[in-house]
Amino acid sequence: MPGLNPLLDAPIRWKAAATDPDLRDLLEDLQANILKGHGRHHAAHLFLSFKGMTPDAVAEVVRTLGRYCTSAYAQLRTNKRYPPHLDGGPVRCLFLSAGGYTALGGHATMPAGAAFAAGMAARQSILNDPPRAAWDKVGWRDHAPDAMFLVANADAAAVTRDLEDVEGWLNGTGVRILVIERGLQQTRQFRPNAKPEGVEHFGYVDGRSQPLFLEEDLEPEEASVAAEPRGAGDTGAPWSPRFKPSQFIVADPNGRRSHSAGSYFVFRKLEQDVRGFNKAEDDLGKALFGANATQVQLDRAGAMVVGRFEDGTPLVLHPSEQEQAVPNGFTYAGDPDGAKCPFHAHIRKTNPRGDIQRELNLPDNTGDRKPIMARRGITYGAKRPMSKDGREFDDAGREPVHDSGLLFMAYMADLEAQFEFTQQSWADNPDFVGNLNAAKGRPPTGVDPVIGQTGTASQRQHTYLDGHTQGASPSVQSFAQFVHMKGGEYFFAPSLSFLRGV
Ligand code: HEM
Repeated sequence: MPGLNPLLDAPIRWKAAATDPDLRDLLEDLQANILKGHGRHHAAHLFLSFKGMTPDAVAEVVRTLGRYCTSAYAQLRTNKRYPPHLDGGPVRCLFLSAGGYTALGGHATMPAGAAFAAGMAARQSILNDPPRAAWDKVGWRDHAPDAMFLVANADAAAVTRDLEDVEGWLNGTGVRILVIERGLQQTRQFRPNAKPEGVEHFGYVDGRSQPLFLEEDLEPEEASVAAEPRGAGDTGAPWSPRFKPSQFIVADPNGRRSHSAGSYFVFRKLEQDVRGFNKAEDDLGKALFGANATQVQLDRAGAMVVGRFEDGTPLVLHPSEQEQAVPNGFTYAGDPDGAKCPFHAHIRKTNPRGDIQRELNLPDNTGDRKPIMARRGITYGAKRPMSKDGREFDDAGREPVHDSGLLFMAYMADLEAQFEFTQQSWADNPDFVGNLNAAKGRPPTGVDPVIGQTGTASQRQHTYLDGHTQGASPSVQSFAQFVHMKGGEYFFAPSLSFLRGV
């Protein structure tokens, strides 16, 4: 689309939209939550079916819901009015799956891509997902959604009111609501007087490392990276959060304006067996450090699974949690053998920060950076009870096993090259960085212990070197699967001019 690409070739300074009509056109027509997460702690995700409706009736529904949706520009301006919080009023977004575009008939052109056209359930063998017959009974097992409507707010009651309005209005349109997935962000306050931070249900800070493509977000983050202490041997350029918007935003084939854009979107309901995970973490700690392992050692065992301590401190930098701001400019250049942070750790597999460049002897780090997605997940299920200071969970032995987890969501320009590649070629690949291992005569890396979905026992075995402990000898330990996929779909987040004008 003429005019769109230069805007997406470099991070956007959104405040410049006040005087740049092209940028303003882009931001007013792009949906919220893509350039920057909505940040609201309460959300509802309505999954809709258009089965049996005529294309004209579907278009009418899309037009009406489209009028409720929030633009990127409105989201950013509202955030500005409520500093420093992101919780500035409602955010609403509408997404269509391939089924939704098909239901629109001649009203719309299908966005490109084989994965999008096929839908998530049909990509089961690529993703190692359980078959649809094993997905959640309510909503997911028997039907593929044609659309998802997201409503988010700082206030749970406001989300409920929004939901009631939408449900009331949809009644009689022919739309069927397959399921409503409520999101409720779990938080922890790691330091006295610090802001509570978003954590996933295993208890680890989530969302710390993100690709940024707004200059206003990059400025404080790059200043913090420049001030961060670097690890021993990590002497090259720091990992940069600076990404081109074109890695996450594409032209909307149905847009009505000169700069109409949208984004491919992954939704996955990932159930977390917290009790099982916690026990496995403790068992791992005892296997590595002995039956009388200290709490610091048990915490380190968990960090060897995730790659960060619960408060977000990167394991490659520190042997225990730190009472200070959590850095994100680190790379693994000073840890080429995976001795400090194992190659299999979740964050090392999903963002190798130079390992792939070393593995394939590439001239630059594009091989590592191309799959990075803009993650926008939120936890679901009841909040876990906390200690009085809000720092620790207070439910030992009673942690959730079912009905709690992560609504994983991510925006990207290419489903195959970003989400599917990350899940298949990195997380699920037991031979990840195989050349680096082979050169040292080491066994395969194994699958990602957090989200890896290949099940054989040997693929879930990992080598722990613990370079943080002098004289530690390598140890091979298993880690079972505690994250289970319960439903999901691929969507496109279209431009507002299409949604409102279809
Ligand atoms: C980072 C947990 C699912 C990709 C993280 C972090 C945690 C975490 C604790 C570290 C905090 C941060 O840097 O943001 C989980 C849990 C999951 C899950 C518990 C499932 C229930 C996924 C999935 C993917 C993914 C499905 C992609 C296929 C990433 C990426 C990062 C990350 C790319 C950032 C790594 C970095 O830049 O260093 N995750 N995650 N995660 N996760 Fe996940």
